Amino acid sequence: MVDQMIEAPAVTQESDHLQIKSIDHVHWWVGNAKQAMYYWWQAFGFKPVAYSGLETGNRRFASYVLQSDNIRFVLSSAYRPTDEISAHHMLHGDGVKMISLEVEDVAQAYQATVSRGAMSAWEPREERDEYGVYRTSAIRTYGEVLHVFVDRSDYQGVFAPSYKAIQFEAKPTGLVAIDHMVGNVELGKMNYWVNFYNRVMGFRLLQGFSDDQISTEYSALMSKVMSNGNGRVKFPINEPAEGKKKSQIEEYLDYYMTPGVQHVAMITKDIIATVRELKNRGVEFLRVPETYYDVLPDRLKEVNVKEDLAAIRELGILVDYDDEGYLLQIFSRPLQDRPTAFIEVIQRHGARGFGAGNFKALFEALELEQERRGNL
Ligand code: FE2
Repeated sequence: MVDQMIEAPAVTQESDHLQIKSIDHVHWWVGNAKQAMYYWWQAFGFKPVAYSGLETGNRRFASYVLQSDNIRFVLSSAYRPTDEISAHHMLHGDGVKMISLEVEDVAQAYQATVSRGAMSAWEPREERDEYGVYRTSAIRTYGEVLHVFVDRSDYQGVFAPSYKAIQFEAKPTGLVAIDHMVGNVELGKMNYWVNFYNRVMGFRLLQGFSDDQISTEYSALMSKVMSNGNGRVKFPINEPAEGKKKSQIEEYLDYYMTPGVQHVAMITKDIIATVRELKNRGVEFLRVPETYYDVLPDRLKEVNVKEDLAAIRELGILVDYDDEGYLLQIFSRPLQDRPTAFIEVIQRHGARGFGAGNFKALFEALELEQERRGNL
């Protein structure tokens, strides 16, 4: 099956057989869910809404569900060293284990993907409690990551069976939805996973970047963006490219020990306010060289940027544009000690790209960080 998929024809056709409604939630497996919850609650302003653990009858793991508008994160850590979550954490550190997708029919989604070559993680199943029936099925994607299909149309509980509502006050920072989630895969595997998302998941190729577009003196990568039928779910796939020194993707793979989610990009409607608030709360962002801002007014001559360029410079926000408009974006430092997953904050004013015009400046900033870590 694997070889057939590598040999698969170029991505051309679109067949939206999954009918994904949205990203239901992103499930992180972490070393200490309680403290990770505190970080997302206090630093990012996510509201903790549900808990599962010993007190709710869950003897295996502690789990917190947090929400910021349309974004739902689940953070889990295990009670026992023999648990799968503990093994995952020992090998990979904190990371995204499941990207859960809301569908009409989990059996149909499972059948449609497995019959097209997906590896099963679990067959369609129902979990019940007094709030109804929670239906899921799951398949494997790159690395250890799963896509879980979720149907909560017959479920009225706060999240899923075994979870109980919790009451926490949160101060939101303006993060409203997931824009895209990027996967890092091994050298030579990008097209394999592009074909997987096309053939198995019915996604189409939105955009590709080659290594000469996104390389610096040292670090290079290749990237292709896959999107589902309604355009709500976008998964860029990165692979390392040959450079003089170690690609940022290789550094990720070295520390995560397997392909995995590189970053989650979240939408704000006011990036200046959001980034200012996140910085006040201790979130650290990458800073591109100052020369980026010296040439920015010239670069944006043709673009009617509404935001204050002085604030953009002060906060280290990046700007890119295309025929349809512009976008503002910024990238955090890694969220854990291993240089693995990070987040992006993005505000779109028409532009549908991913900031290719910023890649060079960004990679130079990243290389400085890699050098400080002794990983370049
Ligand atoms: Fe991104």
